[in-house]
Amino acid sequence: MSSRYLKRFALSIWCVAISVAGGGATGLLSVQTALAGTAGEGCAECHQEIVGTFAGTFHARIWSGMGQEHGCQSCHGDTAAHAADPTLQNVLAYRAKGGSPVDELSAKCLECHAGDTHMAMWDMGQHSRNDVSCFSCHIMHAARAEVNQPETCFTCHRSNRAEANKQSHHPIIENKIKCTDCHNTHGTLSPAMIKDETVNQLCYQCHAEKRGPYVWEHPPVEENCLICHTPHGSRHGKLLVEKIPNICQDCHDWSRHPGTPYDAEKGFNGSAPSERFYSRSCLNCHGAIHGSAHFENHGLTR
Ligand code: HEC
Ligand code: HEC
Ligand code: HEC
Ligand code: HEC
Ligand code: HEC
Ligand code: HEC
Ligand code: HEC
Ligand code: HEC
Ligand code: HEC
Ligand code: HEC
Repeated sequence: MSSRYLKRFALSIWCVAISVAGGGATGLLSVQTALAGTAGEGCAECHQEIVGTFAGTFHARIWSGMGQEHGCQSCHGDTAAHAADPTLQNVLAYRAKGGSPVDELSAKCLECHAGDTHMAMWDMGQHSRNDVSCFSCHIMHAARAEVNQPETCFTCHRSNRAEANKQSHHPIIENKIKCTDCHNTHGTLSPAMIKDETVNQLCYQCHAEKRGPYVWEHPPVEENCLICHTPHGSRHGKLLVEKIPNICQDCHDWSRHPGTPYDAEKGFNGSAPSERFYSRSCLNCHGAIHGSAHFENHGLTR
């Protein structure tokens, strides 16, 4: 469809919407009357559209389901002063530029949400401490509460977008896992707001087989998966931080064959290409890289 037709299509939907809204005038009126009682002086006079759609927002529906009545002032503060003298100064305005102080905005939401368990570490979290408030991720005048991950995150975390598109990556853009499978964006006590006490505990949640137990362990694996892997994306296979054998030779350079320099002579086009370099390199033989359960193990070879 060309954009010209798209515009016409949008226009016709808009006309239908207007006529439906016209037909439902009594419904609209009852919302306004209800709000007049709870939300201070009539807001519809100037914010007609938002008052009209308020009943469809997820909060309004949750509240009515709970038999509670809350109006605009539950989030926008004591709005009577603003209705009389409409400026941004006498209303809680949730916006990045020209809005109210971020602490006040978060505090308003926390009046009701401070008791949620996932909120327990909000004050310690990187977002709170860097003046990122609830409205940066959550849209309130909407029918659903879902945050569109990962797009919302990428608007600020641009390098994560680049990482998520690298050759090897956790399947985030494929929608198989979400940022919040690993992070609690509301704050945690662990580094980088990860959802477990340590990096390894987090990884074991989904890669349980890497926990072992092994007869022959490989010490760096137990220490921290991120010695060899990067969590988001890498241009090397299997989310590795470096290519093999370099990654192995960072630690194993002191004994026999692990220390061999793979120079021009030993490389693919060299005069004496090494079987320890081509194909899967060290992994040709040391396939049990996370640990071995075989009693007759020779150097993590199976
Ligand atoms: C007489 C008209 C008028 C009435 C009545 C009125 N407002 Fe406003 N409101 C405005 C104007 C104009 C602005 C924009 C002020 C600015 O940008 O400087 C505004 C801004 C706002 C904002 C901030 C919007 C933003 O962009 O962040 C909120 C929130 C708001 N009003 C809520 C309310 C609520 C709730 C009520 C009912 C209690 C209400 N208003 C009643 C005229 C009105
Ligand atoms: C649950 C909290 C909450 C309630 C209740 C609420 N708002 Fe808002 N409002 C927000 C937040 C947060 C924003 C910032 C934009 C967004 O998230 O959609 C906002 C944005 C606005 C804006 C500016 C943006 C725009 O689209 O024009 C106006 C005006 C406004 N609200 C008016 C109202 C009125 C009028 C009511 C009552 C009918 C109301 N709000 C009820 C939280 C709330
Ligand atoms: C007057 C109390 C109140 C205020 C103020 C309030 N909320 Fe809520 N909110 C609730 C209740 C009750 C629920 C449903 C139970 C729950 O999930 O905690 C809810 C649900 C939600 C949900 C959806 C949870 C789900 O299950 O999908 C989100 C997101 C949310 N609120 C964010 C906010 C944000 C952001 C603000 C501030 C702009 C805010 N709320 C202000 C009472 C409130
Ligand atoms: C950096 C983005 C971000 C910020 C800032 C943020 N949230 Fe959330 N919030 C999310 C995401 C993403 C989810 C969905 C979590 C999931 O799917 O596991 C969520 C979920 C929620 C839920 C529903 C939790 C449930 O039970 O499923 C509530 C309620 C909520 N947030 C309230 C808030 C409040 C209140 C604030 C501010 C004090 C806030 N959020 C700040 C991103 C954010
Ligand atoms: C498979 C789990 C996992 C997923 C999915 C994930 N992360 Fe992470 N993230 C981590 C781990 C682990 C760290 C590093 C913790 C450390 O260094 O101790 C981290 C670190 C970060 C950091 C701080 C350091 C850096 O790399 O910039 C940011 C910001 C971040 N993640 C954002 C995101 C965003 C945005 C998404 C979704 C697009 C996401 N993460 C998805 C596990 C994950
Ligand atoms: C409005 C901008 C903004 C949005 C949207 C946002 N963040 Fe952040 N985030 C920040 C800032 C600012 C910091 C603190 C500085 C930093 O580490 O980059 C931060 C920090 C983090 C950290 C901790 C990094 C560390 O080094 O400890 C993680 C993890 C994170 N964000 C994940 C997310 C996820 C997941 C989302 C989407 C649900 C998201 N963020 C959405 C601005 C944002
Ligand atoms: C929420 C579940 C989850 C968590 C937590 C998780 N992963 Fe994954 N991981 C996956 C999924 C799903 C895949 C893709 C599997 C597939 O495509 O078969 C994957 C794939 C991988 C791969 C292979 C990537 C490739 O290119 O083939 C590595 C390496 C990996 N994860 C390491 C880690 C590390 C290290 C951690 C801890 C920081 C971790 N994972 C945490 C779900 C998770
Ligand atoms: C000493 C470096 C090193 C450490 C530390 C390490 N890995 Fe790996 N990992 C590798 C290598 C090398 C591969 C590629 C194996 C292959 O291609 O056969 C790999 C592959 C993977 C894969 C994808 C293939 C598979 O075997 O499922 C996952 C998932 C994975 N690692 C998870 C983890 C987790 C979880 C940890 C921490 C408990 C961890 N790794 C620690 C080197 C390491
Ligand atoms: C962070 C450092 C580190 C990295 C990176 C690392 N290793 Fe290790 N590796 C160790 C340590 C420490 C031991 C235990 C040494 C010992 O027992 O003498 C070990 C043991 C081994 C053993 C068993 C030795 C034996 O005597 O049984 C093999 C084989 C091995 N590593 C291969 C590799 C390969 C292949 C890689 C690259 C994929 C690699 N390692 C990456 C630190 C590392
Ligand atoms: C052709 C198979 C093969 C390849 C390729 C290979 N290794 Fe080995 N490696 C072995 C065998 C077999 C042993 C055990 C020797 C023994 O037990 O006497 C071993 C032993 C080791 C040991 C134990 C310490 C030592 O000196 O005995 C380390 C560490 C090691 N390899 C690292 C590596 C690294 C790093 C690479 C890649 C640069 C690599 N290996 C490539 C077969 C191989």
